[in-house]
Amino acid sequence: MNLQSKWITASGDTKDVCPVFRKVWNSSKPVVKAELCLTALGVYEAKLNGKRVSNYVLAPGWTAYDKRLQYQVYDITEMLQEENELRVTVGRGWFSSQMPGWTVSEDRIRRAARPRGIWGGIRLFFADGEEQILPTDDSWSWDYSEVRFSEIYDGETVDARIRPEDWKAAELLEWPQEILIPQEGEEICEMERVSVRQILHTPAGETVLDFGQEVTGYVEFTVDAKAGDRVRILHGEVLDQNGNFYNGNYRSAKAEINYTCRDGVQTYHPSLTYFGFRYLKIEEFPGEVRPEQFSAVVVYSNIRRTGGLKCSDPMVNQLFSNIFWGQKGNFLDVPTDCPQRDERLGWTGDAQVFIKTASYNYDVDKFFRKWLKDMAADQRADGGIGQVIPDYLPEGAPSAAWGDAAVICPWQIYLTYGDREVLEDQFECMKKWVDYITDSTRDPYLWTGGEHFGDWLGLDAPSGSYKGSTREDFIATVFYAHSAELVVKAARVLGKDAGEYEALYENIVKAFRKAFPEYLTQTEHVLAVHFHLAEDPQKAADALADMIEKDGCRIRTGFVGTPYILHVLSEYGHNDLAYTLFLRKKYPSWLFSVEQGATTVWEHWDGIMENGEFWSEDMNSFNHYAYGSVADWVYEKAAGICLQEEYPGFEKVVIRPMPDERLEWLEASIDTRSGKITSKWTHTPEGLRYEIRTEVPAVIEIGGKRIEAAPGDYTFWG
Ligand code: BGC
Repeated sequence: MNLQSKWITASGDTKDVCPVFRKVWNSSKPVVKAELCLTALGVYEAKLNGKRVSNYVLAPGWTAYDKRLQYQVYDITEMLQEENELRVTVGRGWFSSQMPGWTVSEDRIRRAARPRGIWGGIRLFFADGEEQILPTDDSWSWDYSEVRFSEIYDGETVDARIRPEDWKAAELLEWPQEILIPQEGEEICEMERVSVRQILHTPAGETVLDFGQEVTGYVEFTVDAKAGDRVRILHGEVLDQNGNFYNGNYRSAKAEINYTCRDGVQTYHPSLTYFGFRYLKIEEFPGEVRPEQFSAVVVYSNIRRTGGLKCSDPMVNQLFSNIFWGQKGNFLDVPTDCPQRDERLGWTGDAQVFIKTASYNYDVDKFFRKWLKDMAADQRADGGIGQVIPDYLPEGAPSAAWGDAAVICPWQIYLTYGDREVLEDQFECMKKWVDYITDSTRDPYLWTGGEHFGDWLGLDAPSGSYKGSTREDFIATVFYAHSAELVVKAARVLGKDAGEYEALYENIVKAFRKAFPEYLTQTEHVLAVHFHLAEDPQKAADALADMIEKDGCRIRTGFVGTPYILHVLSEYGHNDLAYTLFLRKKYPSWLFSVEQGATTVWEHWDGIMENGEFWSEDMNSFNHYAYGSVADWVYEKAAGICLQEEYPGFEKVVIRPMPDERLEWLEASIDTRSGKITSKWTHTPEGLRYEIRTEVPAVIEIGGKRIEAAPGDYTFWG
């Protein structure tokens, strides 16, 4: 879009205060269509004649800003009046907030010093066929807005008494325009609302609102106040052992709202930042705090729900709910690790372990394709992939199983949605990542050396370490093999020659078998079997089952091993043990957190320990989706909806349910690009009943029989 627009900024350092930019015009002639094109260095809220121009919040979203910055185009025809006033308030957002919060790097200093500004314009199409453009330039003006401070981690400060009216000419800003791209991702929207469940008066004497559900977004409140009255709100995910408000785990993120009232009844919610929370501590508030004055506005990318999971056990259903909420809370334009503390970054490893589940739960095609383009844009000169994308940790070494997101994510998006374009877009990035490993390893065909996160948070970690005991070279080599193999598969889909990578893959397999003749941990067994590296996978799976049983049926795996452990057990004759782990309530287990009252998936198996204490202050998120990856076992194994590589996008499906009598019934469905598939089994007095509804051709495998089935509804007895 060429609007002859210039970047504009405030004429002077506004420091913490968010500038508001303004354009007024009047339409003397009848207008048939009007468009607003806009983007910002920061995040913006645009209001035309006092009304928001769209449901899009936190626009222009989060991309690798130095290379790619999305602009939005809004149809504003219906909002026009004779006299028009556009106001655009700009906060720091992801563009210049102090991110990440725990380390000060040169890059962080550079980003935080970036200016705030906007670019775009208004385009008017008149009834007489003429067209007029009002591009951003120095005819636009600006003033200090009522938003006195806004930052991703620290929250927002607003003085509602302030009415900008001292309009000054905006200044032109030198900033590249080549980075501008049209909106690519899903829009971030206000998707749901949650009411206050109860108001707590804690032992420490605090007034705390409990929404009964951890959400990501912000609170909206309405208050009847006098000018100068103050509202001060802090955010928390859990209460402490004594039932008091707690936010120690937000680390340096202040996550607070400071609002100074004007006279009268007023409704406010933050508009240039967001929070992860279930509890709000009301530190200051004029008058009595009543539940109906507050509601939690749930904000996430506008992704369509496609997955359904339910069963006869209420605790398992709560786990399913936690998994969906965990995804909603962390799919805010970028797949983030968590929504609350001073991170909220696009951790590649977390995205990689969760993507299969994510792609069944919701349609995340567009969401991931945009993020993957940022990954390609931020790929380092040597092919390395940062720990987070956008790469806000450029000094951090690429880690195995994190950087492999470059290959695993495009492949999964291709498989789930069946569009090979994602492979075309990402192919170079995928190859360069594998080449990076080849160039940086110490030993050929293994990935040795480097700095890795290992089996992050595995419970077999030596004391004091975050990394499970699985050998780092082992994990790194497994993922080297896996990524090389996926490059070969992608090349085949694209009709490209992959001979070099085929040979590489075979050599890695040989080298792996030689270097790692035995497996020492649960995760090592799981990886060797799942990624077809074990020479005798049945023997390795049996050894895994044995190891788990001897250990009291405790899961020890971390981020890397957990996604596949139940798959391996179910595939190799240990489905009963898979269910034992899945249904286990005692620590460590998925249901342990549910028993502790979790409403989203926790970062740690024991974020709140059995004795009621917190795991630790410095690394304890209660909304981290990684372990929610167990849902893909429920879809694929428990319910048996198996995506086939030969039929990407579920053009045809294999349905092979694996029930267990500890659940009376279980049902899963995926609304795929090819049609909806539902699989349910029920233990009835007459026997085991299977109900399959499929809108796509299927192969149904039940009780040793194999049936080719056309789309339709089927009932079988087993
Ligand atoms: C994040 C993770 C991430 C990890 C990498 C953490 O601080 O929250 O989820 O993958 O660091 O080690």
